[in-house]
Amino acid sequence: MKIINKIEDLKNEIKNLKSTKPGTIGLVPTMGALHKGHLSLIEKCRQENKIAIVSVFVNPTQFGPNEDYDKYPRTLEDDAQLCENAGIDIVFAPSPRDIYDEYYFKHKETTLICPPYEVVNKLCGKARPGHFDGVCTIVGKLFNITKANKAYFGQKDAQQLFIIQKMVRELNFDIEIVPCPIVRETDGLALSSRNTYLDEKARKSALSISRALFKAKELRTKGVIETQTLIDTALAYINMGGNMETEYAEIVSVDTFEKIDIIEENKKALMLIAAKVNVEDSNSGNCYQVRLIDNIEL
Ligand code: PAJ
Repeated sequence: MKIINKIEDLKNEIKNLKSTKPGTIGLVPTMGALHKGHLSLIEKCRQENKIAIVSVFVNPTQFGPNEDYDKYPRTLEDDAQLCENAGIDIVFAPSPRDIYDEYYFKHKETTLICPPYEVVNKLCGKARPGHFDGVCTIVGKLFNITKANKAYFGQKDAQQLFIIQKMVRELNFDIEIVPCPIVRETDGLALSSRNTYLDEKARKSALSISRALFKAKELRTKGVIETQTLIDTALAYINMGGNMETEYAEIVSVDTFEKIDIIEENKKALMLIAAKVNVEDSNSGNCYQVRLIDNIEL
């Protein structure tokens, strides 16, 4: 396995690999701090392609000024080991300067892929203006650089997956997007790189997010179709977690990502939750918040 930083080196290595093992190229875009959720995408990518690439890049253009870009966990050595064990051919781990040109660092601006306002200004995008422009831009760049045939994305970031599928359709990217199911801990907590910020107490509180989703699913299975009832129940469960602040709890149509009031028969709906967990730093005594997201199909 090769670890590559520079775009040109990546292109050359892909060319070399293609000549020795012709076939499809699979790409798993990540920001690193790899866990079993990422690994499920990585393993699927390995199985389905001749050449399997994992990118590890904490992308500055998708973080807001007050977000955790600087603090985001960076564990490249461990990540590379996991990729090597999974039989990956290339880990692409560029620095921001390998990806964005001088203009970006000078002016804090670059050419962006901006999905329509309606799809980005809700759910995660509402509290994170510009976030999905940054995501689409880096993902589009990675598609162009690698010329991958297939790219793997987790349903954990459901809005991201929806927006990337839309981008691929509307900008005619010649790539297949492969959605992958959410991987959870045995107690239900969705795996996330940000779980590393949680101490024991905060982790317990965070569990209320998946509990809320499972409860809503249970009610839906029992025949409840009014989304407000399901949302109210979910909110009550999150509040029971203590130390939690819900950013949103919404139910949308899987096909359009628009809010719905009633879940019609044979129509797929998705409940999405974002909530912040308060964590107390045991050293300094200071409090900070960890933002977590999760969702479930109803
Ligand atoms: P990151 O948060 O590292 O996630 C990389 C991929 O792993 C995403 O497609 C995400 O949905 C998937 N993933 C994360 N946790 C998962 C879980 N518990 N189960 C299944 N899949 C999971 O998402 C990003 O990075 C970035 O926005 C990126 C697309 C790389 C662009 O910078």
